[in-house]
Amino acid sequence: MLKSGTEIGKNRIEFVRPGEQKGFCSGEYLSCHIEAQGEGAVLYVGMGKKIQERNMLQEIFATAAKSMKSYKIREFSCDMKKLIKEFGANVLTDAALGLSLGFYEPERFPRKEKESWCISLTGTEEAADAEKLILETYRVAEGIMFARDMVNRPANMLRPYDFAAAIREQMEGLPVEVELLGREELEEKGMGGILSVGGSSAFPPCLLLLRYIPDPGAPVIGLAGKGVTLDTGGYCLKNADSMGGIKGDMAGGAAVAGAVYAMAANRIQRNVTAAIPMAENRIAPDSSIPGDVITCCGGTTVEILNTDAEGRLLLADAVSCLVRDEGVERVLDIATLTGAVCTMFGNCAAGAITDNEEFYHAFVCAAERSGERFARIPWFREQEDMIKSTIADIRNTSADGCGTITAGLFIRRFTEKKPWIHLDIAGMASGGPGKFAYYADGGTGFGVSTMYYLCKG
Ligand code: BES
Ligand code: ZN
Ligand code: ZN
Repeated sequence: MLKSGTEIGKNRIEFVRPGEQKGFCSGEYLSCHIEAQGEGAVLYVGMGKKIQERNMLQEIFATAAKSMKSYKIREFSCDMKKLIKEFGANVLTDAALGLSLGFYEPERFPRKEKESWCISLTGTEEAADAEKLILETYRVAEGIMFARDMVNRPANMLRPYDFAAAIREQMEGLPVEVELLGREELEEKGMGGILSVGGSSAFPPCLLLLRYIPDPGAPVIGLAGKGVTLDTGGYCLKNADSMGGIKGDMAGGAAVAGAVYAMAANRIQRNVTAAIPMAENRIAPDSSIPGDVITCCGGTTVEILNTDAEGRLLLADAVSCLVRDEGVERVLDIATLTGAVCTMFGNCAAGAITDNEEFYHAFVCAAERSGERFARIPWFREQEDMIKSTIADIRNTSADGCGTITAGLFIRRFTEKKPWIHLDIAGMASGGPGKFAYYADGGTGFGVSTMYYLCKG
């Protein structure tokens, strides 16, 4: 629990700059030092000299939470006065995100009850609506933690229908309409992409739709997230070394669900419809093989050249459904789509591709608020030719490199020219505890907060 206003417990956190605290002035960013004081303790966290990026503030709070956790201190207060003066009231967002994520613990099996914690942010009198801001951000953090739990859950405990059920449960009590399309409905809608990937497994595929429409009649933004609950590569089988983390190939779908949760829990006044196609990518006697031609939603034919390039097939149908059936006016898709984006940015940033400057500008503003890193990738019209097929409309791999871009442009074929943003989070969906202080082992929940702020506007 996070509260604003009253001191709790006897323990406190203070954030210090070099020279501010006697006996503790190393000047190092994220250094910690604890001192007994009366019946409680004070934890000093070094902020270094300069905060250059929003996520550094979040790291400071996450470091504080992790240190307190290591001392088994779960009740404490943070004096925010100095920080609000220096960084403005929005620092409360970073505090709420950093502290909650610092306390996040991955699920373990057998299941262990998660320990509760209570933090009070004091000195917030200057910030208007501090309590509201803290609560709002805490719900975003809950969305992130939900996405993390989904990514971390083993694939044998998260089949496509289990994933859909977990999201439905998360939306319980919220004004979100949940619709699940099964095999028959997918067939009726001609969703050959989802059916071809999902046909590789005994655990059937599905498409989950989430509609949060607080303002009927106003424009709707569409979010599509890849929900491959496990990706072996299919007949184009991955090698053993590439199979680590294949259970996390639904991170885009989990992020979309987490973002919709935060939007609905905060009752933002913008309409959103999400489409999360869910499938396992395996090998079956009758599953697709290279050379097959399938027909995606809307009639576009696709020559499958690599069964491991399955994400774009699912997203083609999901995006099609959003623009054709759901009437969304803008569309964003998010996916762990290509290894090539990891080659470009490692796990430092996600790749972003767009065809609309206005939409992208709003997105950049949202990313500035969330502190998540995206690097824009340009694209050129010749790259559209790289996915032309000689026997079908398009092919699912590029004929000439540019793997991340051509994967994006494949999905763009289904947007019917609506303003579009594509996010490839293959390098960001899972992190180590050492990467950023607010990460834990496994899933990161990357994308939830930026999508939340984008939709909120
Ligand atoms: N899910 C993978 C992409 C991926 C790779 C995610 C590494 C996370 C870490 C995707 O389905 C895939 O296998 N893509 C192929 C595409 C290729 C066959 C054109 C890839 O990037 O190798
Ligand atoms: Zn794949
Ligand atoms: Zn995949």
